[in-house]
Amino acid sequence: MDILGLLKAVFNTILLYTVTALAPMTPGTVIWKLFKTRKGKVRLINRDLICDTETLLKLPSTGRSLDQSTNSLVPFVPLFTLDYNTQWKRRHNAFVHANNKILARITEKNMNVTLPGKQGNIFWDLCEIMFKIAFELVFDRPPTVDEFNDIYPGVVDVNKVIKRFSWTANLPIRQKLYDRIITLMKESDTNFVLHDHKGFPELSDLDKVSLVGEDLITTISIQCSDLLCHLLLLYPKYHDAFKANLDNCINETLRLYPLSDLWIMQPFKQERGWITSLVQLNRNGWSDPDTFLPERWDSKEHPPLMSWGFDVRRCPAQKMATNIVKLVFENIINTEGFWIQPALNFDHGRSFPFGCQAWVGYGQQPDNAATWKFNHKFKMQFNRWVFDRLRMFDQNELV
Ligand SMILES: *[C@@H]1O[C@H](CO)[C@@H](O)[C@H](O)[C@H]1NC(C)=O
Ligand SMILES: *[C@@H]1O[C@H](CO)[C@@H](O)[C@H](O)[C@H]1NC(C)=O
Repeated sequence: MDILGLLKAVFNTILLYTVTALAPMTPGTVIWKLFKTRKGKVRLINRDLICDTETLLKLPSTGRSLDQSTNSLVPFVPLFTLDYNTQWKRRHNAFVHANNKILARITEKNMNVTLPGKQGNIFWDLCEIMFKIAFELVFDRPPTVDEFNDIYPGVVDVNKVIKRFSWTANLPIRQKLYDRIITLMKESDTNFVLHDHKGFPELSDLDKVSLVGEDLITTISIQCSDLLCHLLLLYPKYHDAFKANLDNCINETLRLYPLSDLWIMQPFKQERGWITSLVQLNRNGWSDPDTFLPERWDSKEHPPLMSWGFDVRRCPAQKMATNIVKLVFENIINTEGFWIQPALNFDHGRSFPFGCQAWVGYGQQPDNAATWKFNHKFKMQFNRWVFDRLRMFDQNELV
């Protein structure tokens, strides 16, 4: 590299690090603020920052997985962190089988979801609703009280580390989750979604638990409840658009609030590592990029949506996740008299530093619904800021 290039790389790396270390934003958002509509790659000291979708899609294809550094999911080894090899193929086969069965179950089941009336953080209420649905879809029955008490706290713990409400795993809680899933596997109920899959019994215990606990239950509980939260927060403002075309609104929501922040590829042999921000990819190259405009999906004249991965790393659960969310969302908003109003001081961002602060009710909306505020905003922001930094450095997210 020439001297000028090197100086630029050093400058960009220091800039990115300093702003990320200080600003109360996720690294992905910082990247969008700093580099906005830059095209191509920005060279950093150790890796390249990929600024737009076109450049990302032109990268040489590789079987290596993204984001292997994530430690928030212990004890699971999620499918998306495996290299593209025989183990991946076995897991993927079983996953596809489960996915197809779940897609059929979604249409058969008569889900009756009611969001309790409440003023405050509804984030965990949504997560719990999604967890119960995930369990029901996988086992074709609701969890017993004991099953719920063993598994759900583990899912919450994973979500807390992902959301940076805490930064280390609570291992005893996760052990309970692991043990309970092993017990469920041993029971081998005929309604279990992988009961009739030939390859499943041949997987190792860890693969089985990861597939059922992470690829299915945790993914549905966490990713789907995030998407559902975003949709519900946008719903009061864009009520008519949601009624007119829910699919457009879902894509537009995912464009502005992608479910992951960064995709990271570690350096390998001669290849440089890279990093990319989903917020940047989904705005760079779009007209009026920061505005929620569901009508833009009526046309095909725009870059592809980057939220579900790409090439062999494409998330196989896209259809399952969107179908589940659609069903639950429609169920909630069509409940007689339902209304929702985010708090006046709530900033709707990609991640949830304050949870999901909203007032949910049924029937006549009180006059003060639009002006209520939640408490402890600064404290929540500060806690998240601290845990976010700890996790960033702990996992070398940007190095
Ligand atoms: C849905 O559940 C609610 C509360 O449990 C109940 O009141 C209602 O009758 C149920 N509706 C249907 C269609 O099952
Ligand atoms: C939403 O995005 C997905 C993924 O890119 C795409 O397959 C689908 O056609 C889009 N839906 C609409 C309504 O444009």
